[in-house]
Amino acid sequence: MSLWQGRFGSEAPAEELLEYTVSLAYDRRLAADDVAGSRAHVRGLAAAGILSDGDARILLTALDRVSGELEAGTLEFRPGEEDVHTVVERRVTEMAGDVGARLHTGRSRNDQVATDLRLFAKRELLVVGRRLLRLQRVLFDAARAAGDAYLPGYTHLQRAQPVLLSHHLLAHGWALARDVDRLLATRRRLDVSPLGAGALAGSSLPLDPDLTAAELGFAHRFENSLDAVSDRDFVAEALFDLALAGVHLSRLGEEIVLWASDEFGFVTLADAYATGSSMLPQKKNPDIAELARGRTGRLIGHLAGFLATLKGLPLSYNRDLQEDKEPLFDALDQVALGAGALAGLISTATFHTARMQEAADTPYAAAVDLAEWLVEGGMPFREAHGVVGALVRDALERRVPLAELVEAHPALGSDALALLAPGVAVTRRTTPGGAGPVAVAVQLGRFAAALEREASDLHADDSG
Ligand code: ARG
Repeated sequence: MSLWQGRFGSEAPAEELLEYTVSLAYDRRLAADDVAGSRAHVRGLAAAGILSDGDARILLTALDRVSGELEAGTLEFRPGEEDVHTVVERRVTEMAGDVGARLHTGRSRNDQVATDLRLFAKRELLVVGRRLLRLQRVLFDAARAAGDAYLPGYTHLQRAQPVLLSHHLLAHGWALARDVDRLLATRRRLDVSPLGAGALAGSSLPLDPDLTAAELGFAHRFENSLDAVSDRDFVAEALFDLALAGVHLSRLGEEIVLWASDEFGFVTLADAYATGSSMLPQKKNPDIAELARGRTGRLIGHLAGFLATLKGLPLSYNRDLQEDKEPLFDALDQVALGAGALAGLISTATFHTARMQEAADTPYAAAVDLAEWLVEGGMPFREAHGVVGALVRDALERRVPLAELVEAHPALGSDALALLAPGVAVTRRTTPGGAGPVAVAVQLGRFAAALEREASDLHADDSG
């Protein structure tokens, strides 16, 4: 039976209507939050004297039992039921008898679903945040294990300057730290209870939205009932945060794909985190990293699609808003899964530091060090840049070692030669936040502190 029978005649809803509008297949994930919201609502009704204490007790007991069934997996979701709110109310009514008919007093599914989804998001954003924290810990551990190993740093995907491997790994870590920070900020902003807004305008009954907000652990209640039932900014924000986190997983994935290629040869994946080819026996493929990259398209699509859903909506609630759930659920799931899979992949990967160092140790990688050495001797940088640039061109054109030319140059000579020795250039990146060992040691300490702050903000234990 539908929830609006009175207004309608005996004609049953059309099959196509149900098929097209039903949301139970996915909004069942809100069941626990729907029960929580309903509990708070019952307490609010009792406090307002709208429900007798006896009736309130009956409803709360029924809600407890629904909650028990939910945990046990025995709550029945019947085909033909429209949404999770229908299921919970139906089951409460089966248990509470006539009193069940009082549950929805002063409430609409419009404030109800907004309440449920905010409760859900408050919890699940922390879950994703913890996954991202775990990945950061894995990057941190890999960074510490990398010691003084270095590799070429790239710009334009051309070898630019050597950087410590730990520095490179932590660069991804800091991006993920910002993701967590954004998720937490979104969570703070969404911490507002819409319950009590009713369908759109509040109620004639003496309900107290502050009381139900406190009951549900929300920091605030809504200020405007129209806004309360139509605001899905928190979904759009979460979708942005998750899309950007996805972009970060994607960029990390892309580097793993490159590094795992024979051309780079910087990393070998553990068998458990790689896949084979059905045809080519020699292949070992980085599918997790590729999907971290590929699936991000979907996350960006969720954000763009949902903004398009919102943009033309008049106040207040419109059924279009039902389209908030699937993208949000999927984005939360995919970022959590991607972060988990990449954490496993990185923690079991073998980094080939000798190969990295070989790639970083071309003399050209120290070109800027030669120029800066001239600067220290008083030469203007632009001039120094020109001197070294000309030497590089000469070395390439005449196929002579750069070292020879450096040694023969009157402004450089054998003293400058030491700069070209393997492993020297990276040690010269000493400025704060730079890529050399001295600066990175400081950075590791700061990153450790950032992880601790995150863990406490996410209420995460040590295992993440
Ligand atoms: N399934 C709906 C949603 O997700 C629940 C609210 C329905 N409200 C209504 N007035 N039809 O938005």
